Amino acid sequence: MKSKSEKTFQQCINAACRTTFGVREVLVACPKCGDLLDVAYDWSRVRVPKKLSAFQKRWASRNNRLDFSGVWRFRELLDFCDDELKVTLGEGQTILQQNDALANYVGLRAGGLHLQYEGLNPSGSFKDNGMAAAFSHARMVGARRVACASTGNTSASLALYAAHSGLQAIVFVGSGRIAFGKLAQALDYGARTLQIAGDFDACMRRVKEASARLGLYLVNSVNPFRLEGQKTIMYRILEGLGWEVPDWIVAPGGNLGNSSAFGKAFAELKELGLIDRVPRLAVINATGADTLDRLVNQKKLTWNAGRYDRQAILDDWKWQDTANRPPHTIASAIEIARPVNAAKCLRALEVCHGVVRSVSDEDILNAKAQVGRCGLGCEPASAASVAGAKLLVAGGVIDPAERVVCVLTGHALKDPDATVGYHTGKYPAGKEVAGRRLFANMPIPVADDLEAICAIIERQT
Ligand code: F0G
Repeated sequence: MKSKSEKTFQQCINAACRTTFGVREVLVACPKCGDLLDVAYDWSRVRVPKKLSAFQKRWASRNNRLDFSGVWRFRELLDFCDDELKVTLGEGQTILQQNDALANYVGLRAGGLHLQYEGLNPSGSFKDNGMAAAFSHARMVGARRVACASTGNTSASLALYAAHSGLQAIVFVGSGRIAFGKLAQALDYGARTLQIAGDFDACMRRVKEASARLGLYLVNSVNPFRLEGQKTIMYRILEGLGWEVPDWIVAPGGNLGNSSAFGKAFAELKELGLIDRVPRLAVINATGADTLDRLVNQKKLTWNAGRYDRQAILDDWKWQDTANRPPHTIASAIEIARPVNAAKCLRALEVCHGVVRSVSDEDILNAKAQVGRCGLGCEPASAASVAGAKLLVAGGVIDPAERVVCVLTGHALKDPDATVGYHTGKYPAGKEVAGRRLFANMPIPVADDLEAICAIIERQT
């Protein structure tokens, strides 16, 4: 239980429960009702700056490790641990890039599209924002072994932070379901890597069971401290826009931790009076892993002020089993059928007046090729945000004159098989993608002969 003196605590999200717990308790669900937990703050006791622009002053003191971190630079907004316990690898040095060529592809006016490039993090994905926060909590509670289930990026990030912190890393990945760049990282950073004969959802179930039995510290996004770190992606977007709120944030949806954290960030900033309006949120599924789309658009599930229909989510899980509908998408990072943060994401959608859409693998890969060609680069799941924005503009949901930020969640080098497969037309086994490869850039075979080489270089097309 939370003690009265704590300014930060944990709290069940469910309106019918709302039980509170101390900040030092290690929980991944409410012990009373089983729902998800939040990190909550008594804001009257946190020293939050009066204006967001105050955080910018910390750019001037970047020799302080906490001011250098793109997570801890905003530490008053995630004030759950003492400074000396805070873990950082310099995460969050990510930039907001405006890109007019891509705006044109999406159907927006020049100046209207920004990309939040989270691939620039130390392990190459947005997960590092969350890991800095989760590892700080792990240190707070004296954890020795840290674990996660992963489609790849969480395992890479966990493995990197564990290697730096001297903790033992244990990662659960679905056999054959993880992109090579990510598997390479987990192995190289020394994580004990368990290839489970099953998909991500099976890994998630088993890692929860194993953590409960062996006392492993779980850093999946059911860990509320991890999501606190991911709020900072939104702070950096606001910073990149001179503290102006964009019209739309568009993000891919997998386990739905990111979108949940984004909604929480904006709800808190609004409550604190640091912003005067919240942006709209678009969460983009792959059509082969479209649980959120189904829950929101077909089953009309809403947060309903915390009294959401939990049974409807569980019924959907059951229906998936009987319908024998395993998730399948080239965007392996979001190949998830039972998103653990579905309820928190419903809340984010309510806070941000959000929408959910699904995009095909073909649209994802074409958008990814455009992101590369426009000088950014990302992995397939990240490109779902760009494909989703394009779909929403075409459908008249996003106005071409609005200001849109797509979150590019992971680096292009994470999944070289998908990229080379797209450009050469040879997809890895089991990942066959039908359809048109609009921007394929085939390698050109040529003899070891200068005349032939020069002729090809000079050729017009
Ligand atoms: N984009 C990338 C590159 C990801 O790795 C993930 C999730 C997402 C988007 C979706 O984010 O889960 O917060 O909705 N990857 C997790 C993993 C599941 O294990 O690495 P989400």
